[in-house]
Amino acid sequence: GLRKKEVNVLCLGLDNSGKTTIINQLKPSNTQTQEIVPTIGFNIERFKSSSLSFTVFDMSGQSRYRNLWEHCYKESHAIIFVIDSGDKLRMVVAKEELDTLLNHEDIRNRKMPVLFFANKMDLRDAMSSVRVSQLLSLENIKEKPWHICASDAIKGEGLQEGLDWLHEQIS
Ligand code: GTP
Ligand code: MG
Repeated sequence: GLRKKEVNVLCLGLDNSGKTTIINQLKPSNTQTQEIVPTIGFNIERFKSSSLSFTVFDMSGQSRYRNLWEHCYKESHAIIFVIDSGDKLRMVVAKEELDTLLNHEDIRNRKMPVLFFANKMDLRDAMSSVRVSQLLSLENIKEKPWHICASDAIKGEGLQEGLDWLHEQIS
């Protein structure tokens, strides 16, 4: 059959936001792991959809590893940025990291799509995706297509909507 288009996706966001849990859900069920542990450095995961072959760089969000993020910018075609919707205290830190990312010279002038997951929507005090996008000032992103989905990565809710959007942007 036709060769699938290769897409490199960079998965970013603060530690504990749910990046690895989201990527685990997107993998075929026979390759999913039961136990998710905090990522050390980064992991590389591969999975295919109908028309695309994804390579995902699942980066650690711990502050001591965030300096690794920028080494992956050049070769990435899309970004998934994950936010813990229940973590009000660190929303300002998430915004700082997002702003630094968007202003980086390897990212700034590119039209690469950015998919946001307002994750952990199941938490009782979770902020809505609208609230999260306000706090992160997403309306100021003019040069890139972006989209935000509320998600519950444990149940797998909201993830397909995000992936569908990414598909439209890339294929
Ligand atoms: P680092 O690798 O340290 O950067 O963290 P991460 O962003 O990869 O987070 P990870 O996927 O390891 O998840 C952190 C914790 O949040 C785990 O205990 C997950 O089970 C939990 N978690 C992930 N997604 C959700 C969600 O949607 N709802 C709830 N309630 N918990 C979640
Ligand atoms: Mg992780």
